[in-house]
Amino acid sequence: MTALCRYLTFLEELSGLRAEIRRRTRLTSSTRLHHRLLRMAAKRARRTASSERGTAPLTRRFWRDRYAETPYDELPWFEAGASRSVRLAYAERFFPKRGSILDIGCGAGSNVLFLARKGFRALGIDLSPGAVEAARTRAAKERLKIDVREGDALALPFAKAKLDGAIDHGCFHTLPLRRRRAYTREVSRVIRPAGKFVLAWVAREFTADWGPPHRPSLEEITRLFEPTFLFNRTGFESGGKDGVPSSYFAFLTRRSGPQPPPR
Ligand SMILES: C[S@@+](CC[C@H](N)C(=O)[O-])C[C@H]1O[C@@H](n2cnc3c(N)ncnc32)[C@H](O)[C@@H]1O
Repeated sequence: MTALCRYLTFLEELSGLRAEIRRRTRLTSSTRLHHRLLRMAAKRARRTASSERGTAPLTRRFWRDRYAETPYDELPWFEAGASRSVRLAYAERFFPKRGSILDIGCGAGSNVLFLARKGFRALGIDLSPGAVEAARTRAAKERLKIDVREGDALALPFAKAKLDGAIDHGCFHTLPLRRRRAYTREVSRVIRPAGKFVLAWVAREFTADWGPPHRPSLEEITRLFEPTFLFNRTGFESGGKDGVPSSYFAFLTRRSGPQPPPR
């Protein structure tokens, strides 16, 4: 009887031990699985991030084709002279005198030419070879010195804090929503502390079915740029009757001190 009791107790202990071993094995393997999934997720995120640095090939082709198919001065956004926000910034002496100012998505270069005429070191980048060629040809006709190259706003070919300022007239608002943060990072990187940035974009109040699909709100612009830029001034320009879209502009200064507290 005692032997039987001891045997039963032994069996009980053994089954408890087995259960414990099973529980531990389950835990270990699920922890292992969890870590494996984490590693896979991190790898995928890294792969996505690196393949998504810069503009996607389809978008590049889209912009390249615009200038290849249509003479630059017949494109719907073309203005022969400088845009209103850039003229205003110049009139208000917003840009540092003779500073290096980059036009991001410069198109056929009207703003670059204007800045070169006014004595700035005028630079421009655009995804489209046709746009770059147009800007260079126009500058050569006027014997203006400019530096316009093929380049991507999402991977700007400039070192950190290299520029005294930048402008963007109609490029930012064409970017897909998920790429706007990458744009902000790049612009914040290349403009030196206390450098200037003038951004102009088609307003949400412009409801025509042509134009950029995602027209940023003032709130979206603030959310994106406030951590790295001080907002000196924003303005709204209502569009003309001839189909000129309503737009917003913002005059920004690259922060050099601490950021504002989080919201
Ligand atoms: C609406 S047009 C405006 C052109 C010019 N800023 C103007 O006001 O006439 C947008 C321009 O941005 C360029 N662009 C679009 N995405 C870009 C990117 N990721 N990097 C550089 N340029 C880009 C296009 O090729 C095009 O010339």
